[in-house]
Amino acid sequence: MSAGIVTVSYIGASILFILALGGLSNQETARRGNLYGMIGMTLALIATLVGIVTANYAVLIGGAVIGGFIGWVLAKKVEMTQMPELVAILHSLVGLAAVLVGYANFMDHSLAISGVEKTIHDVETYLGILIGALTFSGSIIAFLKLSAKISGKPLMLPARHWLNLGLLVLAVWFGNDFLNQSATGGGMVPLMLMTIVALLFGIHMVMAIGGADMPVVVSMLNSYSGWAAAATGFMLNNDLLIVVGALVGSSGAILSYIMCRAMNRKFLSVIAGGFGTTSGSSAASGPAGDVGDVVAVEAEEVANMLLDAKEVMIIPGYGMAVAQAQHTVFELTKQLRDKKVNVRFGIHPVAGRMPGHMNVLLAEAKVPYDIVFEMDEINEDFPKVDVSIVIGANDIVNPAAQEVPDSPIAGMPVLEPWKGKTTVVLKRGMATGYAGVDNPLFYKENTRMLFGDAKDSIDAVLKAVAG
Ligand code: TAP
Repeated sequence: MSAGIVTVSYIGASILFILALGGLSNQETARRGNLYGMIGMTLALIATLVGIVTANYAVLIGGAVIGGFIGWVLAKKVEMTQMPELVAILHSLVGLAAVLVGYANFMDHSLAISGVEKTIHDVETYLGILIGALTFSGSIIAFLKLSAKISGKPLMLPARHWLNLGLLVLAVWFGNDFLNQSATGGGMVPLMLMTIVALLFGIHMVMAIGGADMPVVVSMLNSYSGWAAAATGFMLNNDLLIVVGALVGSSGAILSYIMCRAMNRKFLSVIAGGFGTTSGSSAASGPAGDVGDVVAVEAEEVANMLLDAKEVMIIPGYGMAVAQAQHTVFELTKQLRDKKVNVRFGIHPVAGRMPGHMNVLLAEAKVPYDIVFEMDEINEDFPKVDVSIVIGANDIVNPAAQEVPDSPIAGMPVLEPWKGKTTVVLKRGMATGYAGVDNPLFYKENTRMLFGDAKDSIDAVLKAVAG
């Protein structure tokens, strides 16, 4: 295959990857986005295999078949709730690949370059291995935390910020040594020492982050894995790898930023770690209220309210995912729609524990896209809503974000069901949500609490509506 055809294929693949990212930004086009990505990757693989590789086909094809088979089995087996940990372990492989390619490239003396060109190449190698190593160890720790193989609690070593700073200074120091020694044919020792420093840094950075902030960290590691791939692209002089790495690197960084903004958290404070130590408690804002202070209702009463309503808004949150109530919720939606009640879903950008968590669950239950709305599209409709059903959501409907200036979630954008006629909150008890903040919504005059597991409660409401 001529170099021209390879270039054209690479440009085609790059365009397909950009279209894939565009498609993934909307649930209606997400499938198409995935398809573009798959076609782009197939094109890239074929162009590389046929146009660039010149030897060792047996090893390469053998590796691709084994890797492809493992990927296929994993994708078949993984549960939706295990996606973040699968993504974390896959990122670790990108990091490891960057490290291995970096070492192979460094030890390959067939490259006839010298002077500034060699220095630039050495810097690319050094950075590629550095980012790759910290992505590798950080992603392994993220995987272990997310799969509950180690505790999700943040590890708060004394003087941990100084430790991080010390590791950074060491990495710069070894970098200088590496460049000096590499000019005279050496450099392996500082390169290996830096790799150990980067591995330790990745471990320490992710160990310090609380379980609840892990989704932001996974997205950040996604970004790092992109930059590691881009650095590998520079090492190998491969334009497609540079473009794809930059796309992954920047989209991961943008996603981390969007998540932090929707949680009203600063990216630096997520990285500094320590948040999310008190999941389910209310240490951040004093004791949560008492069951005696709220108005509890039974499923039959909720069913009657729903049957009397014209406009119903369902607000799902993390508890719906825990209870796996999405299918029953859709059954209830169908029953109400058959009875001419207009049922819509309001989705907060950080409802649940991963981006798009609620959208994925609702799509799995086959809820039509045209009744699922983003927070910004729907918030001003609440005054016209008769009944809002909050299913296992807490922080995303907390008026304290607007009303209590010193609340830990002050300023976080929230859905506003209290502006409607009645709100029914389904949860098991009075526990706080992820942010550990008490929720004044539960004590409002027009709020009713239906206590119990979300699936059991919706089942009971469904039975009463159908009966
Ligand atoms: P949360 O505020 O975490 O509240 C979930 C509520 O569900 C809890 O109060 C819990 O109360 C209830 N619950 C748990 N299991 C239940 C069950 N089986 N049946 C019924 N209720 C159950 O969830 P949210 O409102 O979805 O907000 C998400 C939070 O996660 C935000 O603070 C957000 O910043 C954070 N976060 C989100 C992301 C992304 S990307 N989505 C990433 C990181 C952090 P009981 O125990 O009393 O039942």
